[in-house]
Amino acid sequence: MSSHVAVLMGGRSAERPVSLTSGKACAQALRTGGYHVTEIDVGADLAARLLEVKPDVVFNALHGRWGEDGCVQGLLELLELPYTHSGVRASAVAMYKPSALEVFRAHDIPCAESCLSTVAAVNEKDPLERPYVVKPPSEGSTFGVRIVWAGDNEPPVGSDWHYGDDVLAERYVPGRELTVAVMDGKALGVTEILTDDGFYDYDAKYADGGSRHVVPASIHADVYAVALELSERAHAALGCRGVSRADFRYDDTGGEPGALYMLEVNTQPGMTPTSLVPELAAHNNIDFPALVRWMVEDAGCPR
Ligand SMILES: Nc1ncnc2c1ncn2[C@@H]1O[C@H](COP(=O)(O)OP(=O)(O)O)[C@@H](O)[C@H]1O
Ligand SMILES: [Mg+2]
Repeated sequence: MSSHVAVLMGGRSAERPVSLTSGKACAQALRTGGYHVTEIDVGADLAARLLEVKPDVVFNALHGRWGEDGCVQGLLELLELPYTHSGVRASAVAMYKPSALEVFRAHDIPCAESCLSTVAAVNEKDPLERPYVVKPPSEGSTFGVRIVWAGDNEPPVGSDWHYGDDVLAERYVPGRELTVAVMDGKALGVTEILTDDGFYDYDAKYADGGSRHVVPASIHADVYAVALELSERAHAALGCRGVSRADFRYDDTGGEPGALYMLEVNTQPGMTPTSLVPELAAHNNIDFPALVRWMVEDAGCPR
């Protein structure tokens, strides 16, 4: 058993609060499971902290920039420390949505029509027929995601956009919101996420009562099976390790079975006991402490 685990959390990304919640929950579960745990709120001194703490394994509970995009993974490899979740390449590719979508398309995984553009170009001329969605090429937690409806009069990318010059525009997919957890290459099940206004934004993700989860999703059996299969294929195509989570839109507005579109793969999904991946693990009789323990024992460091 890997006795001393450093749990990385917090960091400087926009998802810092979410990561602190994930990290503290995982640290607590590991302590209860008998591990010696050191919590590290990640800053620019991370390398020095790790050299001082000398953990056997690093549990990466970071989200977003630096923690989810390959940066911290690269540092951990330089330090020859085994770590949880995906490696450098899978993390970097999955985090940059335009690249991830290219990988999905190359593997015949359906995604909505999309194009990479700039703020100025999108505000000059619609890049796709409305309705479409604009989103930052690499963010999480629905930051910056906006639906551009046919009748909207304001510029598609507003003054509150602070995600750089590039914009990913994607055809708006009506219908339902599904997500699939993959553990060790195997899909654990499909969850449907119900929100009041059909938009899975930051508050719906994290506020009390912001969304309801249906596990297992009550959808056509064929679509359920395809969602599992597509998620396993995406996890493999990106080269993910440990646990990942694929987000889908399911357009059943013309009746069931409808069409699935993969939005993204999250290589560092939320890890509180009530998060989507732990919930799907529990559905497979893997409780939160057992899931976190498995992640630590599965940690690796490519050589
Ligand atoms: N093409 C789309 N059509 C409809 N809804 C979308 C689309 N893209 C994103 N959304 C909505 O925005 C949410 C966040 O988008 P996503 O691409 O998963 O980015 P994030 O990394 O922020 O989670 C989705 O869960 C969904 O509710
Ligand atoms: Mg998402």
